[in-house]
Amino acid sequence: MKVTVVGAGAVGATCADNIARASLCTELVLLDIKEGIAEGKALDMMQTAALLGFETKITGSTNDYAKTAGSDVVVITSGLPRKPGMTREELIGTNANIVKSVTENILKHSPNAIIIVISNPMDTMTYLTLTTSGVDKHKIIGMGGILDSARFKCYLSQALSCSPNDLNATVIGGHGDTTMIPLIRYATWNSAPVTNFLSAEQQKQIVADTMVGGATLTKLIGTSAWYAPGAAGAALVKSILRDEKKLFSCCVSLDGEYGQKDICLGVPVVIGKNGWEKIVDYKLNDEEQGIFNKSADAVRNMNDVLKTL
Ligand code: 2OP
Repeated sequence: MKVTVVGAGAVGATCADNIARASLCTELVLLDIKEGIAEGKALDMMQTAALLGFETKITGSTNDYAKTAGSDVVVITSGLPRKPGMTREELIGTNANIVKSVTENILKHSPNAIIIVISNPMDTMTYLTLTTSGVDKHKIIGMGGILDSARFKCYLSQALSCSPNDLNATVIGGHGDTTMIPLIRYATWNSAPVTNFLSAEQQKQIVADTMVGGATLTKLIGTSAWYAPGAAGAALVKSILRDEKKLFSCCVSLDGEYGQKDICLGVPVVIGKNGWEKIVDYKLNDEEQGIFNKSADAVRNMNDVLKTL
């Protein structure tokens, strides 16, 4: 199995590190446009193999896509990260051109690859990758909801003083501070609804904290997150390469599901060897469907900006 991670910045390098540590593939290529960065980070990671005991062979490349040939999975992290006070949406102008050209280069050498898009604004970058590549929709997966759900579980576990691993909680909709939808009504603590244990005010606070989970730490660090986004990307790679059929919230092409079409948006999907294999219908109530539709409108407006670039 071969995996390529495009973009050797903090998110790309962390994703690659997680993939290697779990020995998910035999070959891992880290590629970046900046001279030497990918080669240097790949070498640093390779030097941890004897300490961590993994078998994956990591190589770096400065923009030589021939080295990525025959990849089974490609993770795209290229583009600018957001700075404090910025929305993910403000990155569209710069990142759209980068993501389009990366996708074209990748597909020239790995026409059958499953592509995971992490670059922001992620929902629009996923839509761009799908519409400009013309590949089977099941092979294009946007990484957002899985990360937002992990942040949701983090805040829930703090409020409940429980293990995040005992929680089931999902965020659907767009991957934006105002477009994501933490589904607290569905969240459970080992099968018991979390709403049994939290006041209405606590629930509201957890939902609000989740929605700005990325922005909060961006303000603290001065740039966007990498540990959780990198781990989320690697979790998707694992479910694909090991055909785990894990149910994750991911940004995928909707064709009538959840009442939307001609859009890529976060919904629960089964992730396996064929990419996203099935959309699972949570049967939203009217209120949730209304919020989902509003989220779709906001993402659609962002997608329309692509036509003006
Ligand atoms: C985040 O939410 C990078 O969009 C990613 O941290």
